[in-house]
Amino acid sequence: MKCNGYILHVLEIPGHTLDHLAYYNNAILFSGDTLFSAGCGKVFEGTYEQMYNSLSKLSQLTDETKIYCGHEYTLNNLQFAKKVEPDNLDIDEKIYLVTDMRKNNIPTLPSTLFIEKKINPFLRCAIPNVIAAAENHAERKLACPAEVFTCLREWKNKG
Ligand SMILES: [Fe+2]
Repeated sequence: MKCNGYILHVLEIPGHTLDHLAYYNNAILFSGDTLFSAGCGKVFEGTYEQMYNSLSKLSQLTDETKIYCGHEYTLNNLQFAKKVEPDNLDIDEKIYLVTDMRKNNIPTLPSTLFIEKKINPFLRCAIPNVIAAAENHAERKLACPAEVFTCLREWKNKG
């Protein structure tokens, strides 16, 4: 797809909606309501597994990719990320930075995949501390990262 002189590739990323799309090139990603900074979109039309797979697709882009998402939800998302990983210092640092930015009406976006992989619980479903927090919340063992994702997404829906 060509847009304002940019050539963008199109990725199908069902989950939030069934026909959700992302646009990307080697430097930027328009992730819509699928990948947010420190969070992800709600699963409206698709399944949790579809959403997990869509996030996995996006996370395979290069770490320097700048992420332009659909909403300024970063601070709210970080409060949940902190609940999941209270000992993650990258989340603490990001909360400090983002709080200051929002006070001054500065957007917290774009983010990068490099940052998101350190602070976004929905991209960290295979990290031991995140698995442990999800299992603790679910009060049972979770068999795979997609189950961890489902638990986190349901947890956030309620919280
Ligand atoms: Fe939406």
